Amino acid sequence: MSTDPLDRPWRLWASVAILSVFVFSVLFGFVLLPIIQGRGAGLDAFESICRALGLRPGSPAAPQPASEAKAQPTTRVAWSAELMQALDRPSAIGAQLAAACTACHGKDGRSVDPKLYPDLAGQSAVALYKQLNDFKSGSRLSAVMAPLAQPLSEEQIVAVSAHFAAFPVRSLPPAQMPAPSEAIERLVARGDPTRAIAACNACHGEQSGGPPEAPRLTHQGAQYLSAQLRAFKSGERRNDIYSRMRNVAAVLSDSEIEGLAGFYSTTFTY
Ligand code: HEC
Ligand code: HEC
Repeated sequence: MSTDPLDRPWRLWASVAILSVFVFSVLFGFVLLPIIQGRGAGLDAFESICRALGLRPGSPAAPQPASEAKAQPTTRVAWSAELMQALDRPSAIGAQLAAACTACHGKDGRSVDPKLYPDLAGQSAVALYKQLNDFKSGSRLSAVMAPLAQPLSEEQIVAVSAHFAAFPVRSLPPAQMPAPSEAIERLVARGDPTRAIAACNACHGEQSGGPPEAPRLTHQGAQYLSAQLRAFKSGERRNDIYSRMRNVAAVLSDSEIEGLAGFYSTTFTY
């Protein structure tokens, strides 16, 4: 330790400074502030100081409102490896069940009226399976499809989905295909980052690696497609997992919906 006489007054003043900061903090934190704040909360000085020192318990936090609400699942479907394999194997049971569907969806899964009924031919079996389950559970509403899907068992839904998915997609003569506008092609291929819209084909494109249940859109009737997009937009259709389609459709304009529906209804592969 240095005993240099010049050091002594500095040490003294440094100690006084540190000590006075300490004393001030204690007085301020444990006496002054509690008394001021305690007055606002209707507590006397002694009680406030005891609480600040931790000698008495503080007032309990205000109770938060509790909610009785239960989250509603948008769908009851889950994917497993066995299910995916079964959906890949068309069977005789599927062919038998399909007889009940041909009046609207056509013999080979090609709709008798594409304005109203979607094609099932060449649709992903996973998508068909999910939609039938959702019609059955009521998470996708359709007065026509609900009573048809309700009596189907899990095995029957798998079989009929695998059956229709195995048919080749309807083909259109190239002459029927108008050139899509640039804005629509951009939405399909690149989306619109300014509105947080992912490219439609990030999920719907062939081999896109998107959600397994994303349906194939190509060759579906334009009226059917636009009706579905409008239903997602209004929230009338809400069986999409994580609101994926509702989020997209919510920010599409009516003319974009028409344009996109027209685009996919006249596109071969994408
Ligand atoms: C009376 C006509 C009719 C019959 C019969 C019918 N469907 Fe449908 N189906 C419809 C309509 C209408 C829709 C579209 C519902 C909507 O607009 O949401 C539909 C939609 C579907 C969808 C959804 C496709 C998609 O791309 O989202 C599937 C899957 C389906 N039907 C399967 C079947 C199966 C399997 C059968 C036979 C057991 C069947 N349907 C019988 C009228 C019918
Ligand atoms: C993040 C993935 C994703 C993106 C991006 C996406 N979709 Fe979808 N889309 C889905 C899924 C998944 C479904 C099936 C929803 C369900 O479970 O019923 C679907 C369903 C649909 C349907 C209903 C088809 C039918 O057969 O019922 C239409 C139409 C559709 N999408 C159009 C579009 C268009 C147009 C775009 C671009 C503007 C788009 N989607 C972007 C994932 C996506």
